[in-house]
Amino acid sequence: MPIPQSFIEKLKYACDLESVMSSYVEFKREGRNKKCLCPFHSEKTPSLVLYPENQSFYCFGCGAGGDVITFIRLIENLDYPSAVRFLAQKAGLPMPEEEKDTDLSARKSRILEMNREAARFFHQYLLSEQGKAGRAYLASRRLTRKTVTTYGLGYAPDGWSALRDHLRQKGYRYEEMEEAGLVAKSKKGDSYYDYFRNRVIFPIIDLRGSVVGFGGRVLDDSKPKYLNTKDTPVFQKSHILFSLNLAKKDTSRRLILCEGNIDVITLYQAGFPNAVATCGTALTEEQARLIAQYADEVVIAYDSDAAGQKALSRALQIFSRVTVTPRVLSMEGAKDPDEYINKFGLEQFKRLVDGAEQASDHALNNAVIGCDLDTDEGRLAYLNRALPILSGIPNAIEREVYAGRVSKQTGVLKETILSQAAALSRRERNRAKRREWQTVQSGRAQYRDPLDPKRGEHLREARAEEEILRYLLAFPEEIGSVAASLAPEDFVTDFHRRVYEVLLSAPAEHAADLSQMSAQFTPQEMGRIAGILARGNGVSQSKKQCDDCITVLRQYRGKKTPDEIAKMSPQELAEYFKKQQELKRKKTDH
Ligand code: UTP
Ligand code: MN
Repeated sequence: MPIPQSFIEKLKYACDLESVMSSYVEFKREGRNKKCLCPFHSEKTPSLVLYPENQSFYCFGCGAGGDVITFIRLIENLDYPSAVRFLAQKAGLPMPEEEKDTDLSARKSRILEMNREAARFFHQYLLSEQGKAGRAYLASRRLTRKTVTTYGLGYAPDGWSALRDHLRQKGYRYEEMEEAGLVAKSKKGDSYYDYFRNRVIFPIIDLRGSVVGFGGRVLDDSKPKYLNTKDTPVFQKSHILFSLNLAKKDTSRRLILCEGNIDVITLYQAGFPNAVATCGTALTEEQARLIAQYADEVVIAYDSDAAGQKALSRALQIFSRVTVTPRVLSMEGAKDPDEYINKFGLEQFKRLVDGAEQASDHALNNAVIGCDLDTDEGRLAYLNRALPILSGIPNAIEREVYAGRVSKQTGVLKETILSQAAALSRRERNRAKRREWQTVQSGRAQYRDPLDPKRGEHLREARAEEEILRYLLAFPEEIGSVAASLAPEDFVTDFHRRVYEVLLSAPAEHAADLSQMSAQFTPQEMGRIAGILARGNGVSQSKKQCDDCITVLRQYRGKKTPDEIAKMSPQELAEYFKKQQELKRKKTDH
């Protein structure tokens, strides 16, 4: 799949950043550099700077930045290979043989074929004489023969090599089976064994009807209860929803989101074809967007245990970022939809779904728990919990309706409640603004930097890391000598460590530069890297500065926590302090 670095080098020389960008923006000269209005956000004064010497751009307004490929990715909205193709076409360079690329798609279709074969194998085994235990288990979960067929459910034999040998006989190689996640390699690395053993099998099918992976459940109480296919070239757990291939056919524009496969299947069997579940992971934003694509309303039917409720509040947060109305199902007397339907019947569950509460409704119902509304204290306590909920409702009409309810419950005038809620959201907004301002003022990123979460807590180290990276990007010939005293593990923040690793892995014949990075980082990350470069522009850096920064990192690594110190033997302790002293001396010697 990767495009050869030598071709990227050629492309880079053929596509001068300034001339490529000039077909999209108009540059004005400013000193050594050129500036233009940033095409990635709206502005009246130019804040995008072009740096011809390292062929990079950086917008000080919105943080967009990178090399010529990143620019095309952003402005033409293309992925990396397409952006390269786009530029190659412009420059009249023939693309190198895309042999690797077709290799990947060939591998993918082999995996899909293999998965289909495996699904068939598991299904037939379930229906065979030896599949009795699996059939009995599914029957104990009250799943009918028809449902078993609809979902293509199966049973994996209780042994180490049944599927492996079957696929081998069909002409697949062990390495391919391993890539598909169907077999695993032994610890010694000399043999392969079936990944799913003695489990009932739930094929996971994507929107095009391909079997992309499997879930497998044990028949008893052993652990782990469920196994899912690991991520493969055709399967990404965080992007897929179990049973969406069936649920998407329902026209109600409503989906029911469950935690477990069996919940979904039981619902389907009971006449709710519109249920889906994540495959053993917490809900992701991709999945929420997928749901929003097929539904206007999502009914969250998570387990009623503590873990389920925690997952619920996370899911509500994620759904607030997409255009779908979440409703919450509260199942009393049962753990999950499967148990509920089997205990109370379908009609009762239908009523539950129709009466599912809006998210704010649910929050208010929770807030009232433990507050005795017959006493002043209870009413006040409830009000204190209800106000933040009300102030968080963006829709004015909805807020008014719920304020009316709280008013009835507490006897406080609705207008008073509304004005208190408004004051609260104003205060919250101001507080947020102030926090932001303080952050900017002190240069201290208190917020969680999404690209580099550890940055906020380790500002000193993060800055040292930036300094080192900036130095290496400017003087790639120094990489070898820096590498001798600084290992990737010495980096404190993960993002900078990745950048460093890419720098270290640069083949000797290609100096490490931005164009080499852009294959491995997202455009957002490229912006960050270009920012590191841009902030050092015009500041000449010395090896000594870089060394000081290395010392900062090594010192950080050398530091032990008080707990660890307490556990040291006197000898270790003496050794440790000696080392710390040395580090300090080294630093002041320079
Ligand atoms: P639950 O433990 O709630 O299982 O896990 P469940 O669906 O109620 O299972 P039954 O009713 O006992 O059969 C919910 C989901 O979390 C994932 C699975 O996708 C499961 O459907 N999970 C659970 C795992 O991936 N691994 C596990 O060990 C357990
Ligand atoms: Mn269950």
